[in-house]
Amino acid sequence: MNSIFLDTLSGHKTKRPPVWFMRQAGRILPSYQKLKLSHSFNSLMKNKELASEVTLMPIKDLGVDAAILFSDILIIPESIGMELEFTENGPKFHNPITKKDVSSFTFDSSKLDHVYSNIKEIKMTNDKVPLIGFCGGPLTTFLFMFRGNEKDKSFNNALKFFYSHKKESIEILEKLTDASIEYIKGQVNAGIDCFQLFETYCGIIPSELYKELILPLSVKILDVARDNNVPTIFFPKNFNDGLKYINKDICDFVSIDWNLSLEYARDIVDNSVGIQGNMNPRLFYSSYEEIDMYLNGLLTFGEKNHDWIFNLGHGFLPDIDYLKVKHVVEWIKEANWNRK
Ligand code: CP3
Repeated sequence: MNSIFLDTLSGHKTKRPPVWFMRQAGRILPSYQKLKLSHSFNSLMKNKELASEVTLMPIKDLGVDAAILFSDILIIPESIGMELEFTENGPKFHNPITKKDVSSFTFDSSKLDHVYSNIKEIKMTNDKVPLIGFCGGPLTTFLFMFRGNEKDKSFNNALKFFYSHKKESIEILEKLTDASIEYIKGQVNAGIDCFQLFETYCGIIPSELYKELILPLSVKILDVARDNNVPTIFFPKNFNDGLKYINKDICDFVSIDWNLSLEYARDIVDNSVGIQGNMNPRLFYSSYEEIDMYLNGLLTFGEKNHDWIFNLGHGFLPDIDYLKVKHVVEWIKEANWNRK
């Protein structure tokens, strides 16, 4: 496949940084919002033609260099027996975890089969654009499993359990890891071209604790893709100085959140690992002039760093004007990056 995204991931020099966005599938696109009038999120995910259409929408409507599978990180808890509902206010579980549940989780691989047929459908519809598969990091997925009330966004229950029941927590985290490993094998076999691990709530515990307890599990999941020659991107949001632990034994690229500058991140991440990021999604609420000022400020970094993928520092917010996003994609593609 001829792709600037895959070329960058494999360490080749390119004329410009490739561009795609976290949460580009769905959310901000008018064509998605139209589909949502007659279909629930769940029904879109489970219908291969529609899931494929939503996955490929940002290629058509925004011009990005890669597609990300339309699905959600929370189908892993569903696959081990939890009852998930996507309400208007976000996801919730009808049976949030309590201590006695821990040993009852059993992985049912058939709950994930629809994702593999979606991947095959997407690859059949468009074999010109790389497809990113994904799953949630163990900690992020664990935190959501305690959410029985979609309006409580605090994760207090989860964190209380984590600190007061370490042994059971580790047991759950390991079960999630095992299910994720099977899941990524399935995604790889179905044909994904790249894999991203979303550890969005990495920063909710101290970075040393994450490194010690959870990072080895994340690496086990990332390794499944790497062992099959599928390049990997790790997104440990708010890992802060923990980024100094990121090296080639962990992932190929690391996605940086918007709290750090790209230059600082580049300095502390091992040189063998590429960087992805890190526009603040809220900048899309600013004027075109302010957005262009930000983009102009990236030219020096982009000239020097071929191992950089342009992306956000976290996903889109739902009320962002997609025309500004389209403008950013065009800007990145047309700018003179002055690369040799
Ligand atoms: O990047 C993409 O566009 C691919 C699809 C994708 C979705 N969720 C679709 C989705 C991805 C990669 C995710 C990841 C995800 N899901 C994360 C990690 C990244 C992040 O943004 O923090 C988390 C924490 C979740 C859990 C989740 N799913 C929440 C908190 C919500 C509700 C709020 C929201 O984000 O809209 C969801 C629902 C969800 N996942 C929607 C979509 C398109 C919205 C459903 C709808 O359209 O009604």
